[in-house]
Amino acid sequence: MIGSGPAGLYAAEALVKQTDGDVHVDVFDRLPTPYGLVRYGVAPDHKSIKSIARYLQRVLEGGGVRFFGCVELGRDLSRADLLECYDAVIYSTGAMVDRHLGIPGEDLPGSIAATDFVNWYCGHPDASDHEFDLSVEEVAVIGVGNVAVDVVRILAKTAGELRETDVPEHVLAKLAESRVKRVHMIGRRGPAQAKFTTKEARELGELPNAEIHVRPEDMVLDPASAEVAETDRHVRGNVKVLNGWVEEPAGLAPRRVDVRFWRAPKEIIGTGRVEGLTLERTHLDESGRVVGTGEYETLPVGMVLRSVGYQSVPLDGVPFDERSYVVPNDGGRIIDPEGGTVPREYVAGWIKRGPTGVVGTNKSDAAETVRNLLADVAGAGAAGRPERKIEELLESRGLPVVTYSDWLNLDAAEIALARSLDRGERVKLAGWDAMRSACRPS
Ligand SMILES: Cc1cc2nc3c(=O)[nH]c(=O)nc-3n(C[C@H](O)[C@H](O)[C@H](O)COP(=O)(O)OP(=O)(O)OC[C@H]3O[C@@H](n4cnc5c(N)ncnc54)[C@H](O)[C@@H]3O)c2cc1C
Ligand SMILES: NC(=O)c1ccc[n+]([C@@H]2O[C@H](COP(=O)([O-])OP(=O)(O)OC[C@H]3O[C@@H](n4cnc5c(N)ncnc54)[C@H](OP(=O)(O)O)[C@@H]3O)[C@@H](O)[C@H]2O)c1
Repeated sequence: MIGSGPAGLYAAEALVKQTDGDVHVDVFDRLPTPYGLVRYGVAPDHKSIKSIARYLQRVLEGGGVRFFGCVELGRDLSRADLLECYDAVIYSTGAMVDRHLGIPGEDLPGSIAATDFVNWYCGHPDASDHEFDLSVEEVAVIGVGNVAVDVVRILAKTAGELRETDVPEHVLAKLAESRVKRVHMIGRRGPAQAKFTTKEARELGELPNAEIHVRPEDMVLDPASAEVAETDRHVRGNVKVLNGWVEEPAGLAPRRVDVRFWRAPKEIIGTGRVEGLTLERTHLDESGRVVGTGEYETLPVGMVLRSVGYQSVPLDGVPFDERSYVVPNDGGRIIDPEGGTVPREYVAGWIKRGPTGVVGTNKSDAAETVRNLLADVAGAGAAGRPERKIEELLESRGLPVVTYSDWLNLDAAEIALARSLDRGERVKLAGWDAMRSACRPS
């Protein structure tokens, strides 16, 4: 298993739980820590969802599964290495990078991918030295998905509200200095097309230190959307919540969130850094496509957070569809460019179906892959004997592999840090060096 996020660990669970044969699973991750986006994506203030890690922990501890942290496919191991060492390989590497908007000014300082901001507040070691200028007063968040809602919430909450979460100390200190007063969340289509879930939207309206507003004219629905708002539970719930925000707030809270619809980002403007975001008014044409009206406005924002979706990256030697950014597959069986099935190689999770769905979606997704893998093994007769032992290979390369018990040392260090700071259950250690040292305390 390459990737120890939900998809990888649900697949590992399905493999060791099946009763037709004895299966051993090795789970590799480029990070020293398991759980993928449960640790480095799920918002720090969503503690109940974060606790899914406890379920996934049981998979790693239940027998038949070993964890190899700090081992990256493509850098430390190749696809060929894996095929030498294992009967079958499942790639569950998720979607690590941001999608691009393709508008002028996207690369200006202050224009930030939500992936980077999320990684930073979640204490991802790749982002521990990221710097964000939170001295600005107005921020635009592009996108109306659940990640955008997370990002808006983190910007709108006070550091005091986040103190009991696991955000690293340096992140909490930076958020405490934040001068952000107003956050605009921008949807290029209408309220009926918002991707966020109703529960997450409702939470945004209940923040103790931020008022929320949506303009009544932005709530106007075209006839097709109005019909969907009647019939679709998700849309109906969202529209109801949004309609509760049309009254102009009293202006008593220190922060304010403005949710905007029917506005497509056209240009991020500024000399040397972000000074504004130009939006074009939109509507849906008869076929439901979003089209511009030629009316523009510019928001005076000092930071733009682009939360328009995640994207998978190709894995060396593994087929990849450059249009849909997934590994082409049929129920998890990898399809080669000629349309045939690649033997012994499979995918699960976001790299299999794209960056959508909640943690639980990956359970049935992984189960499907495992079912097909086991059927293939059964069809092929007894599994082949691996030609090489992974331990010898890793040792011959001198890789500083993090074992499961090393990770437990890091886990304990984070829990102890929280206790020493009187800051909830866990405070994340950020940065590769700090994490590695905690894995192997001297
Ligand atoms: C910001 C954000 C917040 C979210 N919040 C929620 C939420 O509150 N509730 C909810 O239900 N869902 C949430 N989701 C969705 C959920 O996190 C995903 O559905 C799920 O994590 C996808 O699982 P995965 O295993 O495919 O990918 P991931 O969780 O991304 O796991 C992939 C793993 O592969 C590893 N990896 C990548 N490349 C390599 C390589 N080359 N070699 C070795 N290892 C590699 C990564 O380090 C990572 O650990 C959120 C998603 C995001 C982006
Ligand atoms: N609490 C939770 O349960 C939780 C939290 C976070 C994430 N997640 C899940 O993780 C997955 C990923 O979430 P996500 O928010 O990254 O993706 P998402 O749900 O696909 O939302 C992406 C948003 O970006 C917009 N967008 C895309 N391209 C754009 C462009 N060029 N210009 C303007 N806007 C653009 C989309 O608008 P269009 O619709 O118009 O394309 C959409 O509003 C989702 O399934 C989500 O539910 C769940």
